[in-house]
Amino acid sequence: MTTIENGSGKRELAGKRALVTGGSRGIGAAVVRQLLDAGAEVLATARSATSTVPERATFVQADVRTRAGAEALAAAAQETLGGVDIVVHNAGGARPHKGSSAIPDEEWQDALDLNLLASVRLDSLLTPGMRERRSGMIVHVSSAAVPTPVAPFLHYTAAKAALENYSRGLASELAPFGIRVNTVSPGRTATPGGEATREQWAQMDAAPDQNNTAAPSDTNSIVPLGRDGQPEDIANAVLFLVSDRASWLTGSSLVVDGGEFHRG
Ligand SMILES: NC(=O)c1ccc[n+]([C@@H]2O[C@H](COP(=O)([O-])OP(=O)(O)OC[C@H]3O[C@@H](n4cnc5c(N)ncnc54)[C@H](OP(=O)(O)O)[C@@H]3O)[C@@H](O)[C@H]2O)c1
Repeated sequence: MTTIENGSGKRELAGKRALVTGGSRGIGAAVVRQLLDAGAEVLATARSATSTVPERATFVQADVRTRAGAEALAAAAQETLGGVDIVVHNAGGARPHKGSSAIPDEEWQDALDLNLLASVRLDSLLTPGMRERRSGMIVHVSSAAVPTPVAPFLHYTAAKAALENYSRGLASELAPFGIRVNTVSPGRTATPGGEATREQWAQMDAAPDQNNTAAPSDTNSIVPLGRDGQPEDIANAVLFLVSDRASWLTGSSLVVDGGEFHRG
């Protein structure tokens, strides 16, 4: 268990109210656990009813891909928490396809709704309250794969790239109101969604001209630190960004990938 204290014995996020999308498993579930351990009140959401969210957190079912889902979630946050100080936009993902032209229109739309517009809509509903209180912390979960897009995931990485750009712009807009907005970009992380997606990618019958899109398989040769990430590795970065330790950080992107994706 990770307990973050502020040096005076008080848990670091005591008194803070947090909303986590996709909080029922994988990275989101680790973020929920760490926020609770740091003393925050937490509302977690996912589409399916779940018994995996700790009892100390409140769970509400919602689909963040639609404006109706975002509105239901914002209303639940107001009702159960009385407002939100921390938002972690974690729900995301997409299925791989054989190549760019095999990605159907509806999956492009779905990828954009889940990986970009869900955050845009929810932020638009939650930031007015943060502006009034002149404080807030927002984290968007992107992907370390954004700078090196591959054909099976163009819908996914394009949506995440747009999310990162939006996140930086939102950070500029909201900084004068004391609201910090940052991005965490995970590399390959051992979660139910991540492993299922890599399995689908590995099983895809790659055509000869698509060999360069083959799913990477041997973690030791891919990740310089020699292992896949664990959900807690990503949650550690999220917790840092929403804590006062990051009080001078906004508009940043923290890549947590074991050194896999070289940048610049
Ligand atoms: N794992 C990796 O290797 C990896 C790498 C790079 C980036 N990421 C990013 O990290 C984030 C978390 O990934 P993960 O691997 O932990 O995913 P995961 O294991 O698939 O968990 C996804 C969570 O989001 C929820 N969710 C999915 N669609 C939703 C929707 N429309 N509305 C509300 N909740 C929804 C899921 O519950 P329900 O299905 O019940 O809704 C679940 O709680 C994603 O943004 C992903 O793109 C992951």
